[in-house]
Amino acid sequence: MRILAIETSCDETAIAILEIENKTKIKVLANCVSSQIKTHAPFGGVVPSLAAREHAKNISFVFESALEKAEIKNIAKEIDLITVTSGPGLAPALLIGIAFAKGLAFKYSKPLIASNHMEGHIYSNYLAKADDLSEIDIKEMNKPVIHLIVSGGHTEIVLTKKPGQYKIIGETQDDAVGEAFDKVARLLGLGYPGGPEVSKRAQEFKKSILDKPITLPRPMAKSKDFNFSYSGLKTAVLYKVKELKEKNPNLDDKIINEICYEFQEAATDVLVDKTIGAAKKYKVKKIMLSGGVSANKRLREKLSLKALGEGIEYGQPEMEYTTDNAAMIGIAGFMKYQNSKNKKFDWRKVEMDANLSL
Ligand code: KG4
Ligand code: ZN
Repeated sequence: MRILAIETSCDETAIAILEIENKTKIKVLANCVSSQIKTHAPFGGVVPSLAAREHAKNISFVFESALEKAEIKNIAKEIDLITVTSGPGLAPALLIGIAFAKGLAFKYSKPLIASNHMEGHIYSNYLAKADDLSEIDIKEMNKPVIHLIVSGGHTEIVLTKKPGQYKIIGETQDDAVGEAFDKVARLLGLGYPGGPEVSKRAQEFKKSILDKPITLPRPMAKSKDFNFSYSGLKTAVLYKVKELKEKNPNLDDKIINEICYEFQEAATDVLVDKTIGAAKKYKVKKIMLSGGVSANKRLREKLSLKALGEGIEYGQPEMEYTTDNAAMIGIAGFMKYQNSKNKKFDWRKVEMDANLSL
């Protein structure tokens, strides 16, 4: 079967086409993403009304590109199922994708499945690179996993007993970790989105040129739960920058690199320790990372090494599925389809839920 998947929950207009054989072999035929980074960059974050406007402007072009890439000529004959992100996300942005999906489902009389964006991030781990074949092993998927989902909107540790059975066992009490990367980048005068910029600068750091090297707190590192807090860490960076600017109003590039390095270490230390702690407490032998911040090399390196040291299996998504994309929504929709007895999925029943949880 072939699935057409649509994702517009935040600032990426994304459409993917997946081909599924024998219910287990998945091939991503197209994974098209139109990013709105340039639109939101001057604001240092995503502006919901602008995101919706850009989705409405670009969605038909992204749709045509996906059809062309997947060589789909006749939607009525070649597509079996449509799926769209119904939440969580920005309400005006989600509505554009949902309205577009409903229009297609009505026109071509296709079933339409509402997919959960976070579930999409979880399933992104199971997708091979576009055009490669991924073989999903249902037996393997039914084993418990601790998922660390880190993005611009979420920082969650999720215990998955099996697909569809989720328990959030820890989450941020304030800012998401990706949001903290973006805010720190902004106060250092770096570009948007901040994650890639901060991590690039952190890699350039070698040795402190200050009398006292910069140290930042590891928020909630000692709390006995699996929750996080990132707003205090961002404020600590703000005070550090103020203090340094009092001595020299133009921050030296090397000092900016050092701040980025120490911020990245502080932010990722807590993520790694709590995720490993959760796996140990719940006696789970597998950890998986996902979400936009899972593109962070240092986080991948630290979490994989620590998991290995503890004898825990580790998984991470291919780079093209770290930030928002529709291929992950396609596999989430497929799993929902697979696990349902009634395969009708009437498009009239699909509703937006911006606050949807797992
Ligand atoms: O999953 P995503 O595309 O969108 C949301 O659902 O939020 O995640 C975007 C977030 C942004 O905050 C961005 O700064 C962060 O992921 N990000 C990174 C990196 N690449 C993207 N954070 C740290 N290091 C990176 N390399
Ligand atoms: Zn996301």
